[in-house]
Amino acid sequence: MITLEKITQYAKTYGFVFQGSEIYGGLANTWDYGPLGSLLKQNIKKVWLKRFLNEGPNIALLDSSILLNTKVWEASGHLSSFSDPLIENKVSNQRYRADKLITDFDNTINPDGWSLDKMYQFIVDNNIKDPASNKTEWLPIRHFNMMFKTHQGVIEDTASKVFLRPETAQGIFINFKNIQRTTRKKVPFGVAQIGKAFRNEITPGNFIFRTREFEQMELEFFCKPNTEMTWFDYYQKEIHKFLLDLGINQDNLTISEHSPEALSHYSNKTIDFEYKYPWGFDELWGLASRTLFDLSEHEKHSGEDLTYLDPETNERYHPYVVEPSVGVERLLLVILLDSLKEETLPNGDTRELLQINPALAPYKAAVLPLVKKHHSLKATEIYEKLRSNFDVIYDETQSIGKRYRRQDAIGTPFIITIDNDTLENNTVTIRYRDSMKQDIIKVDELETFLFNNTKF
Ligand code: GAP
Repeated sequence: MITLEKITQYAKTYGFVFQGSEIYGGLANTWDYGPLGSLLKQNIKKVWLKRFLNEGPNIALLDSSILLNTKVWEASGHLSSFSDPLIENKVSNQRYRADKLITDFDNTINPDGWSLDKMYQFIVDNNIKDPASNKTEWLPIRHFNMMFKTHQGVIEDTASKVFLRPETAQGIFINFKNIQRTTRKKVPFGVAQIGKAFRNEITPGNFIFRTREFEQMELEFFCKPNTEMTWFDYYQKEIHKFLLDLGINQDNLTISEHSPEALSHYSNKTIDFEYKYPWGFDELWGLASRTLFDLSEHEKHSGEDLTYLDPETNERYHPYVVEPSVGVERLLLVILLDSLKEETLPNGDTRELLQINPALAPYKAAVLPLVKKHHSLKATEIYEKLRSNFDVIYDETQSIGKRYRRQDAIGTPFIITIDNDTLENNTVTIRYRDSMKQDIIKVDELETFLFNNTKF
């Protein structure tokens, strides 16, 4: 199993993820996605859109704003209940998420859904110590709202207060009527959205697993009341299939269902797809049945009719909602953890190998001249031709062996080597990342080869 330190170091070395604001000493728990990380993020979003938007059942796309009218958060319940239990140690003044303190003390206990009093009592009864000071004197637990606040405009008064969205979903609910009217879609239909979300997490950490700024890929699927469990099962299967198609190892995946006490205020059933991270199984992807909660609450608070008139039955109802929701960076972490291998070669050497799905690979191919002096002109010509349609990289420095190793380590599935045969016969050698086998193909066939072998 790869450690978190190893993956953090790997991501930094190759330009996937850098510490945020690094030259100023960093800003805790912020991360910048480097040249390879940005390409990987783009590819994750591309395959998600292909599967959940283009190939999904009747889905539209939305790009709503991060700042929303504060009434949205009143209606959605985020102002009153989007909070974590915060506990402060009297000696160190350090603050923690009380539920995390309990699971770190005993990971067989699941305090989801416990009252603040019950958590406090457990911490006191078990003499749980502050990791910073080793002291057991705690202040009472209180709710800490996780929404980031800011002010819109030049006057910082209560009227100008706005929140950064903690989920992209609400942008979809408040646009339900607009989307339905303009697309003329009939229920059942869904709306997909990818965008930034912000949460003032009490305990961010584990590299990019939990951060305060992240991107979500969310889908709100609107269906007829009483059909939501059918759609829930459908999306459960779709998520599972998608993760396997990405190449995630089945043994590293599990599903956990939220207990009735742990369900969010809007949900009647929620499951999490969990991944086996270096610290154990933890959430990757949530799937929630959100009932009619959001549409009916927005109707109450806005006064706008958010019902749907079913043209087939002439019934008017609030559609029920099924929501698959996953963080881009969390999926990126899972993909890196699941793909990075160290392999011993037949000659005893080792190679670092990112065995990533070619559709996700930052570069689809590397173009390498065998001998710089003789082959770089032709190699550059081929590279220039390919790069308008594919993310490819050109490399002419160091020995061919070292160049192979570097491409293996960043997951480039194909290496195109330009040699004398290219000059004489217009053929290139294609080397396969995983098997290290080689084939000869015609230069004219390269684009079709890459298209066919890197599509999702
Ligand atoms: N709209 C539903 C919703 O936001 P959630 O379970 O709170 O549900 C959905 O979040 C997904 O977003 C999670 O499964 C996770 O992949 C990602 N996510 C949530 N909080 C995150 C954080 N602080 N850092 C990174 N990803 C996060």
